[in-house]
Parts: sequence; structure tokens; C-alpha cells
Amino acid sequence: MYRRLDAERLPHHVAIIMDGNGRWAGKRSLKRFFGHQQGAEAVQYVVETASRIGLPWLTLYAFSLENNLKRPKAEVNFLMRLLKSYLTNNVQRMNDNNVRIQYVGRTEELPDEVRERMQWAAEATKRNTGTTLTLALNYGGRSELVDAFRRLAAEVQRKGLRLDQVSEVDIHRHLYTAHMPDPDLLIRTSGEMRVSNFLLWQIAYTEIYVTDRLWPDFRGIHMLEAIEDYQRRERRYGGLNDGTESDDVESLPASQLAV
Ligand code: FPP
Repeated sequence: MYRRLDAERLPHHVAIIMDGNGRWAGKRSLKRFFGHQQGAEAVQYVVETASRIGLPWLTLYAFSLENNLKRPKAEVNFLMRLLKSYLTNNVQRMNDNNVRIQYVGRTEELPDEVRERMQWAAEATKRNTGTTLTLALNYGGRSELVDAFRRLAAEVQRKGLRLDQVSEVDIHRHLYTAHMPDPDLLIRTSGEMRVSNFLLWQIAYTEIYVTDRLWPDFRGIHMLEAIEDYQRRERRYGGLNDGTESDDVESLPASQLAV
């Protein structure tokens, strides 16, 4: 174990927004494709580090719905080919590292040959019990919520439920990630301070760590640094827990209650 980590307080779930492939290539006067290729290499390093420290859940934002719409067709095609070859070339290593792979997103819209390879990799690794690697593919947080609300509305109709019986638990049950814990830590590379439509419901109380490092330069050690930073924080989940006494609101003059 990386000596500065507290093994007792490892996060259960780390999610990563992998950003900066294009900038990495641009800085070297290379085409964006090379950045994506190096980015795919970085994925495997990070996955194996996750497995080594016993991280149960690692979720990577590999391909957003918006990517699909906004990137040039040739780049989207390249990303699809890269995903296929990543899976083909790394399933053996995933098995060696006890890593199971699964996917979230509107994956039914991906090309057939990509979906077949995805299913093959999921099937080949499904018995592994170490880290679960979740790739978010053709994923958008808002569209996940739309999909969840549609399924929930259908259930409400089918079972004739009253609307005041619907709770957060019911929304959670219909998310793509219903079987997973929410992320404890969200890492974003290449410096942007945005969540970019990633796991919107699930990150309500997630700690966020942003690094300027571009994704193709990101390695396991950098994930460990992020976890170390996370371990220095005190999580409050919306509560106080900050060492102050809670205010006795009843005894405050009305003028101090104005917000
Ligand atoms: C953003 O870089 C990164 C992505 C398109 C997502 C990550 C994709 C990979 C790491 C490649 C393949 C993934 C797998 C799982 C094999 P960008 O092009 O938006 O960078 P920029 O903001 O610098 O242009």
C-alpha cells in the first residue's frame, strides 16, 4: 500500500472525468487521435492501481452523449475503434488483476460491433471479485435521470401508486448505478472546474478533486495523491460536524435571523 494512505479509510467508489487528451496532443503538435491513444494507455495504469489498493468501484467517463453529437465523425469513429481494441487487448490483464468490467449509459445506441465486444469483455470478466471498472459510454447525467423517471413513471402507473409514496429511494432504484454506492471522490483532470453532466444525482455529497494534469499523463500515483487529499478532508454530508455548537435559534433576536 502507498505509504501515505490510510488503509482503514479508503474510498469505496472513485469516479474520474478523464479530460485533456486533445490538449495533450496539441502541446506536442500531434493530432488529437494520439492524445486519445495515450489516454487509453493511462486508463489501464489507473485500473491496475485501483485493483492493487483494493478499491471496490472505479467509474470512468469515457464517452459522453454530447461527445457523440459534437465531435467530428472521424474522431467519434476513432474513439469507438480505440474502445474495441482497449477491450480486446486488456481483458486478459483485467482477469490477472481480478477486475470486472461493466458499462453505464445509452449503450444500446452504440454500433453493433462495439456492443458485441463490450458484452464479450463483460462476460469474460464477470466472475472477478476485485475492482469493478464501470465505463460510462454514450452517457449523460440528465439523460440518465430522464431514463430513470420514465421507468419510475411506468412503475407508478402499473402499480397504481400514489405520488406521495414516491421517494428518493425510488429514483435511486431506477438509475443505471442502482447497484453501486455513490462515488466518495470525483477526480477531474486538466483543470476544468465543471462536472459536465456526469453522475449528477450520485455526486450530491461527493468530494471533488481537480488536477491540472492532462489525462494522458495521469497515472496510478496521481489517483493515490487524490485519495490522500480526500482522506485529509472531513466529510459532512450536509450536516454541521465542524466543531461549532449549533446555534440556539430560538434565543436569537429576529434581526439576526434574516438571511
Ligand atoms: C477528453 O479529451 C477525453 C475523452 C474523449 C474521454 C476519454 C477517452 C479516452 C481516455 C480514450 C479511450 C477510452 C477508453 C476507455 C479506451 P478531450 O479530447 O476532450 O481533450 P481536450 O479537452 O483537451 O480537447
